[in-house]
Amino acid sequence: MKTLVTYYSKTGNTKAIAEAIYEALGKENKDIKPIKEVKNTEDYSLIFCGFPIYAHSVPVPAQNFIKSIPSGVNLALFSTHGALREGRMPKEAIEHAIGLAKNAKVIGTFNCRGEVPQDELDSLADKPEHSAWVMEAQSAPSHPDEDDIKDAKTFALDILKKVEKFDAFPVR
Ligand SMILES: Cc1cc2nc3c(=O)[nH]c(=O)nc-3n(C[C@H](O)[C@H](O)[C@H](O)COP(=O)(O)O)c2cc1C
Repeated sequence: MKTLVTYYSKTGNTKAIAEAIYEALGKENKDIKPIKEVKNTEDYSLIFCGFPIYAHSVPVPAQNFIKSIPSGVNLALFSTHGALREGRMPKEAIEHAIGLAKNAKVIGTFNCRGEVPQDELDSLADKPEHSAWVMEAQSAPSHPDEDDIKDAKTFALDILKKVEKFDAFPVR
């Protein structure tokens, strides 16, 4: 069975993390594609699915995709965001995504910061509902950076180890 790395990405940050994960998977039987190009989730035993946080939450195409993943698939979720890495918003967005995976088994999560274009920050800064994360995102330029990429690769290898463990000791 194959491993899929899939992502929703508007400005390339989540795509960059997806590519790092894909690279770290080495010689695995693997595919990488944007969510909108994924046809058959049944072909995969492990799916890495990434999304950016937009307007405090998980973008709808990623929501629909996560909901559609069938049972028996191991799912690893990752996200990028302007807010600080350890903050409440990234945690809540990932928790929301976990809740959407009604059938798939979520076996790990990863998140890191992603640069926000300055013109977007400028236009969102005076909207009260966005001001908190926009303030934090002022220090996100250059993310994902080298350390984020390294952490994403470590995450991918940890997930592979977990899956190999399940295979060696199948849960019956
Ligand atoms: C319109 C807009 C809304 C955003 N909303 C949030 C948000 O609510 N919280 C947050 O932490 N980051 C937010 N971001 C920042 C993105 O999550 C971040 O830049 C992400 O890395 C973009 O990923 P992508 O390049 O894969 O599209 C927003 C960015 C834009 C442009």
